[in-house]
Amino acid sequence: MGKGPGQRQVDRAPASETARLFFAAWPSPELQEALGKLAQGLKRECGGRAIPAHNIHLTLAFLGDVGRDRLARIEEIAAAIAGQRFELNVTRVEYWRHNRTVWAGVEHCPAALQTLAAALEQALSPEGFRFDRRPYVPHITLLRDARRAPATAAMPAVSWRVHEFALVESVPRERGRVYEVLRDWPLSAQMSG
Ligand code: 2AM
Repeated sequence: MGKGPGQRQVDRAPASETARLFFAAWPSPELQEALGKLAQGLKRECGGRAIPAHNIHLTLAFLGDVGRDRLARIEEIAAAIAGQRFELNVTRVEYWRHNRTVWAGVEHCPAALQTLAAALEQALSPEGFRFDRRPYVPHITLLRDARRAPATAAMPAVSWRVHEFALVESVPRERGRVYEVLRDWPLSAQMSG
């Protein structure tokens, strides 16, 4: 078959016009590796699907499927966010029965994280994005479709200094979704005193 204009139309996947987007804190490869190993260990205990290390992250705000023509505006909004750095002490694994998710979390959500997530939602709401009304619960998903809760919440503690936040695209691939950081923005150092 010839490659006329019609053929090019078929080649262009509809997904290229929209992107599934979210804002996240993105761990270093070393941290992803450590949390990925934890996920593998939990999979043996709880069943389900372990999130591959390269996809492990902390969601700040989920935008959903967005026209790519809106990317520049979303980036402009993100650039205007004045967030502060924070440290996450990831010390426990939890289980959500309603969606059979095993995740890693913190004892206390740092105020700067709560403020950053709220600031993103507040800045994006006028653009028509709608967010969960439930309070923000920082969670790092480790297993999906788990069959049972982990026997213990204990885990080797992970200390994560978050110095920037990222806009991430969830890209469908043959072997599942891959998360790609499109861009990131620095968080400023905490004022002392
Ligand atoms: P999850 O890990 O709790 O499923 C990419 O899908 C990221 O966006 C994941 O961290 C996922 O959270 C989150 N996400 C997906 N759909 C969402 C929704 N409807 N509301 C909030 N977060 C969502």
